[in-house]
Amino acid sequence: MKKKVLLMGKSGSGKTSMRSIIFANYIARDTRRLGATIDVEHSHVRFLGNLVLNLWDCGGQEAFMENYFASQRDNIFRNVEVLIYVFDVESRELEKDYHYYQSCLEAILQNSREAKIFCLIHKMDLVAEDQRDIIFKEREADLIRLSKPLDCTCFRTSIWDETLYRAWSSIVYMLIPNVKELETSLQQFANIVDADEVLLFERATFLVISHCQRKEHRDVHRFEKVSNIIKQFKLSCSKLAAQFQSMEVRNALFAAYIDMFTSNTYVMVCMSDPQIPSEVTLINIRNARKHFE
Ligand code: GTP
Repeated sequence: MKKKVLLMGKSGSGKTSMRSIIFANYIARDTRRLGATIDVEHSHVRFLGNLVLNLWDCGGQEAFMENYFASQRDNIFRNVEVLIYVFDVESRELEKDYHYYQSCLEAILQNSREAKIFCLIHKMDLVAEDQRDIIFKEREADLIRLSKPLDCTCFRTSIWDETLYRAWSSIVYMLIPNVKELETSLQQFANIVDADEVLLFERATFLVISHCQRKEHRDVHRFEKVSNIIKQFKLSCSKLAAQFQSMEVRNALFAAYIDMFTSNTYVMVCMSDPQIPSEVTLINIRNARKHFE
């Protein structure tokens, strides 16, 4: 099952950087070496076995943009399932950015009316912390207004923190075909093993694709933090030619297990009963695998 995802936005806004971090194991620092994308770069990313994301990274220099709206219009904007439009929060040409965004929406409206639209207000790390909320809310309101009659969902992102994972997890979540079934199974599993929380990560990207929470938790950003931390750890392991397989974090009140699960996922199980020995949970995880394959 192939899903076409368009990645658009002006030159230098950070499209190739985010694609390389999420799908090609780059670390943030490496993206400084990326050159401008010439025309469109296609990549196919296998996701959860039979789902293939067909990413169209559309170089954002003006000459290319004009071309997308004119001679390549049908080719680019047909059969799009998701449009991800990246805005550089520090751009000095906001009006022009909005103009291109609207041209893009017009083409989507004609060619792929059902496409889901996401706007990323990117490079948020460059904005002073106390200004981030205000600026994001302002831009979000602009974009929602400008997108009508289409709907758009906005995220604030930066390659320098976990916000990138939050945005991309939400985006790919919408593309997973049997996600409700997956959630039901995960709920059953969490109940059976008496976990506080269970998360399912896609294996290559470490994006959270499903979760089940049975106990309140005050940190609403914990999923993307875990994604980010484990992805970094996985990369460190690969530098030593070692493959990351599993991890256990434990103190007197709490234990968390991250383990390879199905051929395309890792699972994380959080338990707050310290009496339960690790082996029991690990056996439970192993036994659950066949129900998720
Ligand atoms: P085109 O290919 O020309 O369309 O550009 P692009 O949108 O693909 O931009 P690219 O990913 O090449 O990024 C341009 C520069 O922005 C690189 O030097 C990145 O390191 C930098 N960059 C990307 N994301 C961020 C971010 O979140 N914060 C900061 N500070 N810099 C970023």
